Amino acid sequence: MNLILLGPPGAGKGTQAKRLEQQHGLTQVSTGDMLRAEVKSGSEVGLQAKAIMERGDLVPDAIIIAMLAAQVSRPDATKGFILDGFPRTVPQAEALDLMLAEKGVPLDHVIELRVRDEEMVARISGRYSCAKCGEGWHDQFKQPKHTGVCDACGGTEFTRRADDRAETVAARLAAYHRQTAPLLPYYAARGILRAVDGMAAMDRVYSDIEKIIG
Ligand code: AP5
Repeated sequence: MNLILLGPPGAGKGTQAKRLEQQHGLTQVSTGDMLRAEVKSGSEVGLQAKAIMERGDLVPDAIIIAMLAAQVSRPDATKGFILDGFPRTVPQAEALDLMLAEKGVPLDHVIELRVRDEEMVARISGRYSCAKCGEGWHDQFKQPKHTGVCDACGGTEFTRRADDRAETVAARLAAYHRQTAPLLPYYAARGILRAVDGMAAMDRVYSDIEKIIG
């Protein structure tokens, strides 16, 4: 099964993708994570992407499409993939259609996580992750059992994303509405778009997604 999770910054795409990966053996493909790895490695792509991401703008389509092409045919994605943060523009969606058609791979569901913009700044600015294993945490909504210790690996160092400052979040939300929201009618016209209430508790959002994917 192949899915796209669509929604603005902070909607919960990464949270739900990780859970779907654990429960259903699907492979999470996050262009944001790939870009952050490129930035960390200091690669050519990373150098180009860093300032763009820190401004809250979208990285050019050509870079993203080239980066993704290798991922949809990953040998470990036998049970299918969850696209988290891709596509984000109509040209990216068209490129994805071509890649999937060439490989004879279907796109089964596009799931929109519907949220209220005004609450996303608090959600995002409270987010942090374990520096050792990458497990995501939140100051308010998902706290480790013991303060300062990651439940998943016992790590005691945590990081926050450079683009999670309030002013950057506003730019990211604006980019979503300008460039990514047009994908909603794009996929609705194909009859594969479903929406869930992303403002509900994380477990509820997950069970609503499971109802869609069956
Ligand atoms: P990316 O990394 O994709 O970030 P994003 O889309 O802005 O989304 P986020 O990761 O911020 O949020 P999320 O929806 O995954 O929410 P999460 O589960 O973490 O992209 C970063 C940048 O890279 C972009 O701005 C762009 O520059 C570039 N980029 C990436 N892909 C690109 C592309 N295809 N084209 C061009 N540029 C691209 O949840 C957020 C927090 O809320 C967490 O702390 C979580 O614990 C909490 N939470 C989650 N669900 C709930 C809930 N139901 N209730 C309460 N709290 C919740």
